[in-house]
Amino acid sequence: MNKVGIIGWPVTHSLSPAMHNAAFAALGLNDWSYELAPIPPDIVGKGLRTLRDEGGFIGVNVTVPLKEKVIPYVKADERARAIGAVNTIDFRDGSGTNTDVLGFMDDLRAYGIEVVGHRVIVLGAGGAARAAVYGLVRAGASVTVVNRTPQRAQVMLADLSLSAGLMNADVKTLDEAAEAGASLIVNCTSVGMWPNVQESPWIKGVPFPKNVVAYDMVYRPERTRFMEQVEQVGGRAVGGLGMLVRQGAAAFTIWTGLSAPVEVMFSAARNALSAR
Ligand SMILES: NC(=O)c1ccc[n+]([C@@H]2O[C@H](COP(=O)([O-])OP(=O)(O)OC[C@H]3O[C@@H](n4cnc5c(N)ncnc54)[C@H](OP(=O)(O)O)[C@@H]3O)[C@@H](O)[C@H]2O)c1
Repeated sequence: MNKVGIIGWPVTHSLSPAMHNAAFAALGLNDWSYELAPIPPDIVGKGLRTLRDEGGFIGVNVTVPLKEKVIPYVKADERARAIGAVNTIDFRDGSGTNTDVLGFMDDLRAYGIEVVGHRVIVLGAGGAARAAVYGLVRAGASVTVVNRTPQRAQVMLADLSLSAGLMNADVKTLDEAAEAGASLIVNCTSVGMWPNVQESPWIKGVPFPKNVVAYDMVYRPERTRFMEQVEQVGGRAVGGLGMLVRQGAAAFTIWTGLSAPVEVMFSAARNALSAR
């Protein structure tokens, strides 16, 4: 049996088993399975060795709070080192990478959202924001970060500048960022996530830039308050389920060497989400 899975603490709410097991079934990979593998943060190294040496795992996805903690135990590639987070490990060569960036950028492309030469507002300065800023600036966008704790956003940009030479990004207040204009706003905060579905990261009364597209990394619910706000002023809104699916698709390809059945993974993730 070729085993893969997801480590984190806890991992009970993950949609990844449904998504990957549906993909294995669709491609007739009957000797593959995807399992939940909770590991407490204080024994990450031991946990990884146990999965590899005794559990027979080929690789794992990594979720909160372990994405940063696994770095010392893997050969992290340039992208994962720059972002400071690994979300996919291949035990066969000990490599670790970050497919959140690929998932996000692939999803923007899938929705025809242009970023090259565009101004983008990123809301948030946590792990998801780091991946977004890295992907967007690398692709040729100029990014303004807005965060509840502005110092954290400053530290994030200083880190990304040191680790990846990223220059085309600054920190502003929401008012200043909205006033300067943008073609895309990406919500990388957890605001609006179930069960706090009435909350939005966009402060009421601040006008949205004209014709803006909103991308909400939150995917539970699939349609967030922030997305509704943007649509109410005539903008376009996209939720984060596609990013989740596409980061999973990238991991699937790393482990199996096959191209992933993205549509199958999409509907499995959506079904698992609506069953919650
Ligand atoms: N679609 C996907 O595939 C995907 C992938 C990764 C993450 N995500 C989602 O992205 C979100 C962020 O994840 P993360 O890993 O970056 O989390 P994180 O590292 O904990 O960062 C959370 C961010 O949200 C901000 N925040 C939290 N509560 C807030 C509030 N009440 N008001 C204003 N700002 C608030 C934090 O601001 P402070 O710095 O001020 O605390 C910080 O910027 C989560 O909802 C996660 O599910 C989705």
